[in-house]
Amino acid sequence: MPRRRALLLLLLLSMSSSSPTPASARSAFACAAGGSSSSLPFCRRSLPARSRARDLVSRLTRAEKVRLLVNNAAGVPRLGVGGYEWWSEALHGVSDTGPGVRFGGEFPGATAFPQVIGTAASLNASLWDLIGRAVSDEARAMYNGGRAGLTFWSPNVNIFRDPRWGRGQETPGEDPTISSRYAVSYVHGLQQQQPHGDLKLAACCKHFTAYDLDSWGPTDRYHFNAVVSLQDLEDTFNVPFRACVTHGRAAAVMCSYNQVNGVPTCADETFLRGTVRSRWGLDGYIVSDCDSVDVFFNDQHYTSTPEDAVAATMRAGLDLDCGPFLAVYGESAVAKRKIADADVDAALLNTVAVQMRLGMFDGEPAAGPYGHLGPRHVCTPAHQELALDAARQSVVLLKNIGQPPRGKHVGSSGGGVLPLRPAAHRVVAVVGPHADATVAMIGNYAGKPCRYTTPVQGVARYATRVVRQAGCADVACAGSQQPIAAAVDAARNADATVVVAGLDQKVEAEGLDRSGLMLPGRQAELISAVAMASKGPVVLVLMSGGPIDIAFAKNDPRIGAITVVGLPWTGLVVRPSLDVIFGHQ
Ligand SMILES: *[C@@H]1O[C@H](CO)[C@@H](O)[C@H](O)[C@H]1NC(C)=O
Repeated sequence: MPRRRALLLLLLLSMSSSSPTPASARSAFACAAGGSSSSLPFCRRSLPARSRARDLVSRLTRAEKVRLLVNNAAGVPRLGVGGYEWWSEALHGVSDTGPGVRFGGEFPGATAFPQVIGTAASLNASLWDLIGRAVSDEARAMYNGGRAGLTFWSPNVNIFRDPRWGRGQETPGEDPTISSRYAVSYVHGLQQQQPHGDLKLAACCKHFTAYDLDSWGPTDRYHFNAVVSLQDLEDTFNVPFRACVTHGRAAAVMCSYNQVNGVPTCADETFLRGTVRSRWGLDGYIVSDCDSVDVFFNDQHYTSTPEDAVAATMRAGLDLDCGPFLAVYGESAVAKRKIADADVDAALLNTVAVQMRLGMFDGEPAAGPYGHLGPRHVCTPAHQELALDAARQSVVLLKNIGQPPRGKHVGSSGGGVLPLRPAAHRVVAVVGPHADATVAMIGNYAGKPCRYTTPVQGVARYATRVVRQAGCADVACAGSQQPIAAAVDAARNADATVVVAGLDQKVEAEGLDRSGLMLPGRQAELISAVAMASKGPVVLVLMSGGPIDIAFAKNDPRIGAITVVGLPWTGLVVRPSLDVIFGHQ
């Protein structure tokens, strides 16, 4: 999520108000037949993308060019070119986290897949590819309807090294090999690049690099300097990015807010021009995290003037600024000879060529290869089924032992408590702060799901009767007023107890790291008390992005089963044949 600086925004607003074409995905349908520019070389589909881009850039004034260096790119009405919002997100489904996607009208929602940390746990590359494909259909459909862009700043393949990181949920985890496979498969599904380079969508691997701290103690990501050895970069932090570019052939890479070894990543020529562009051979564009340039100028004081900041980032290899900084200071940077017009042209060549490959200068999309995609391709039964399948494959079973009879101490004893049996477990108590979870199940960088099923609703499809007693008022579960006793009573009288505990965005989020790995507040106390009193087997379901220390539950013989479900978005289903799984039927 970006930081917004009031002054720059005001400047940008005053600039864009002079432009008669508002920036939106819809107005980017340039080169329509019969339009004023349709005969110019940049509209000629038979030419290579880069030649078309070069022709368009050669027709622009300096003032027009610098307004194309930012995510909210202004139109060039005299050439029939509309404005374009570069910033769309599709981390685990089309998301309206960025301004490029707007739900509503014929597109009230989109299929929400489980948060990435969960799907990564499936270790299933073909699943990741299939999810990317489903998302690309829905995104193209929304683009055709004027409600999304085609440039998606997903996936997040930062290595989740610090388990307290609030954004770890977005990533495929801490393993460089799995993160690499994830990057390649998801980008492959999203982009569906053709042999000659045409793209269905343009993906972006972010945030390059060594970023796994948002806000911890006195440090935040806008000021953090990650001190990393070259070996650690090569062996760990950069591995998924390398795979993303070299094998995934992603059309974009995003640099991060933090510094690495004293240099802001968005001003690091060795990283951007040297590594991403030259060594790995990026065919696409490099974009800043939102307001990164502003951050290294105003917060990190990396350069003494704004024009020097423009020069530092563009010389390093940045092509597109998420944020207004380059539009505001680009012209004065050229006037002061901090950068040359040729630097601006080179950056625009990289961005505009991607737009050409996406078919954005081929006129109305209806005639293009994806023109048939529309509202009926969003939230389809097949995509919903794939989301259910992904949620099911995300579940990790940590423990499944026999439950000791009440009052006796028995260790692990063969046959586990799962699967529960509807015939025997007729009355099920559903306990814990996530018993009624909806939005908490969706994680961050989500969109508007087609529908929700809460854990209580899911269990109700299998049990004869469900007794719902959360036991905690919320995930924080702090203070003496928590309704733990009522939950204990429910467990005492039920044939089985399902405890849905964990974290939510008030505890782990962008801008919010955890200070430890324990369950918040009195959640552990609730779980132990319920386990002690429960008449039937106890199943602990952990819903979170980051890891939780659950040694107390692992060592408690009364807790028969523990599953980790990540942030599965959907609803809990206890199926006779399938342990504990999640579904949204
Ligand atoms: C991976 O996911 C796909 C799609 O759901 C599924 O067909 C396949 O069986 C899965 N592979 C494994 C090894 O589970």
